[in-house]
Amino acid sequence: MLKKKKFTREVAIVGAGMSKFGIFPEKTSRDLFVEAFKELRASIDKGFDPKEIDALYIANFSSDLFEGQCHTAPIMADWIGQVPKPATRIENACASGGVALRQALIAIASGIYDIVLVGGTEKMSNLPTEKVTDTLAAAGDILYETNCGLTFPGLYANMATAHMERYGTKVEHLMKVGIKNHRNGALNPKAQFNISIFDIMKNKQEKAIREGKPVPDWEDELSFMKDNSANPVIAWPLRLFDCSPITDGAACVLLVGGEIARNFTDHPIYIIGSGQGSDHSLPERREQTSLRSIREAAFQAYEMAGLKPKDIDFAEVHDCFTIAEIIAIEDLGFFPPGYGPKAIDEGITQRNGSKPINPSGGLKAKGHPIGASGIGQVIEIFYQLRGEAGPRQIPNVRIGLTHNVGTTGGSGVVHIYERRS
Ligand code: COA
Repeated sequence: MLKKKKFTREVAIVGAGMSKFGIFPEKTSRDLFVEAFKELRASIDKGFDPKEIDALYIANFSSDLFEGQCHTAPIMADWIGQVPKPATRIENACASGGVALRQALIAIASGIYDIVLVGGTEKMSNLPTEKVTDTLAAAGDILYETNCGLTFPGLYANMATAHMERYGTKVEHLMKVGIKNHRNGALNPKAQFNISIFDIMKNKQEKAIREGKPVPDWEDELSFMKDNSANPVIAWPLRLFDCSPITDGAACVLLVGGEIARNFTDHPIYIIGSGQGSDHSLPERREQTSLRSIREAAFQAYEMAGLKPKDIDFAEVHDCFTIAEIIAIEDLGFFPPGYGPKAIDEGITQRNGSKPINPSGGLKAKGHPIGASGIGQVIEIFYQLRGEAGPRQIPNVRIGLTHNVGTTGGSGVVHIYERRS
């Protein structure tokens, strides 16, 4: 483990914005980024002049392959009028957003910059699903994972079966994660799936009635999710509703030195813990039911914040597949290894539970535009901690956490945030 490290300067988030996440055939990643930036500007209570931005860090996994456009950061800077400021692209697969945030944090804490825009963007839907799968698979270890035929659903399916074998986890536990996150996503107008699984089920039954077809006799969400025709297997035990979708979207936040934060807003959100780790590729690991990169990142973040897992009021975790949320809540120390499924059965991770997880809908329902996902998590923290999350607001939250994973944990990033007023 690394030695305890503290930043020498406080850093706060003073503004946040995101595009809607979804499938937008008519938009490019730069269009989506401009939308996110406009919302960010409007979110800064006391206003700000974009000329004040010192630098940009832009998370993006692969606009190269998705849009045929490399070198994305200066393009985003240009489209929001920031040329000639330094603009740097950060790529750590699905953890790109979390890593970009951490790089910006380190840059401000070093004193070199005072005001940094951290954003993320991805436009995935230009490619058909099989090409998206190949593009994403390039983030895996091409020697030991991808060349053996493992796709991301396949890799996470391995982790799911390992968890089932070791702890007795059932497919129903995976399904309950999907049900919860879709229920939360139904309250988030920015979510790709702004609808509960219950309502998806009802819509399908009503459509069958309208079309005079046999009406499926699903009794509840679980029976719907066990029906192969409604919820096909993607890589057993993972089905359609266990997978995050293919998504277009962008998000950004404005970070500033703590001492100037109140020039922008009376309600800054302070980043009080930050950690990052790495790991071997999946076949080389001793165990597949826990991510070492995340345990390392969480240790660093808790140490820096001087907090324990019990002090975290709620978290946005990287549920790229439902099993990933179960592993996340164990690796973050919210529950002991193997107790994630029990916590799910007891409703502890529901929005009204004692440890709400993914109130935004998570990657599962909100969407997973790879480069933007880690920043999308920060957006939810910002609004929840300021009490501005609308119908999905969790009452009286003061400390939030984000957990962002690259591949199956090749990169792991954890941040902890605090509201002080
Ligand atoms: N969850 C729930 N519903 C989904 C969905 C998802 N992840 N993905 C698509 N759908 C829905 C669509 O809205 C559509 O519904 P409709 O028929 O009512 O209109 C239907 O399923 C078919 O959509 P389609 O786009 O044709 O699905 P697909 O078979 O091409 O893709 C997956 C489905 C699961 C293969 C794709 O979403 C995927 O690859 N997800 C994983 C992405 C990934 O690996 N990310 C990185 C993680 S590390």
